[in-house]
Amino acid sequence: MNIANKTVLITGANRGIGRALVDEALRRGAKRVYAGTRSGLQHADKRVVRLTLDLTNASQIERAVGAVEALDVLINNAGVATFDDLSDTAATEKILAVNLYGTFNVTRGFLLPIIPAYSISKAALFSLTQSLRAQLARKGVTVHGVFAGPVDTDMSRGFDVPKASPESVAQAIFDGLKEGEEDIFPDSASQTIAESWRTSAAKALEHQNAAFVKGEG
Ligand SMILES: NC(=O)c1ccc[n+]([C@@H]2O[C@H](COP(=O)([O-])OP(=O)(O)OC[C@H]3O[C@@H](n4cnc5c(N)ncnc54)[C@H](OP(=O)(O)O)[C@@H]3O)[C@@H](O)[C@H]2O)c1
Repeated sequence: MNIANKTVLITGANRGIGRALVDEALRRGAKRVYAGTRSGLQHADKRVVRLTLDLTNASQIERAVGAVEALDVLINNAGVATFDDLSDTAATEKILAVNLYGTFNVTRGFLLPIIPAYSISKAALFSLTQSLRAQLARKGVTVHGVFAGPVDTDMSRGFDVPKASPESVAQAIFDGLKEGEEDIFPDSASQTIAESWRTSAAKALEHQNAAFVKGEG
């Protein structure tokens, strides 16, 4: 997509990457750049429109949605990062409130799509699995993820596709555990992606990050 003559909204636009994105969008000829910030942004370019937008504030999201006439590009840039070891639930919730739910609520506010909540929750859970795996390795605890395709249970009743039996999946999960597989693909549908996942750049990055965590410990 070409940014020229487009209307762009950038969250977390007051500093860091967000601030740079504002300038880059202008440089590329954006028609209007909505700068979502908590604290404000002074910008000489008249194409920049400031929006008060804290991702965790529902009424600010609602007001921002009302203030934007039309939008071509939404850049969900705002985020927080604190170094943690998952021992402080409140700290984890604070990060999720911004990075996950905040981003979700802003996107929903502007686009009103049907977003598959199940997939979002599982994607986040997958990331949690990776973090726990790295964290708990120090204590000698192994963490395994199970990535099942469609399984013939109540959950998938309305889903008309070939399904594995719960019994075969249960068997494959224990087999995977026995083989020491970090990521277990327990049915023929999920097995089709097993090899490409295990040799993927994402998996290599996970191992790289885990080695970093181990070194920090
Ligand atoms: N820096 C990196 O190495 C790196 C690498 C990969 C990905 N990222 C991602 O890139 C994005 C921008 O990171 P950055 O490096 O530019 O971070 P940054 O310099 O710390 O800036 C974070 C921005 O997010 C805003 N923000 C935080 N909480 C918010 C909230 N509740 N509502 C609205 N805005 C909020 C901040 O606003 P305030 O000024 O009001 O706090 C600030 O504008 C983040 O999503 C980050 O996860 C960064």
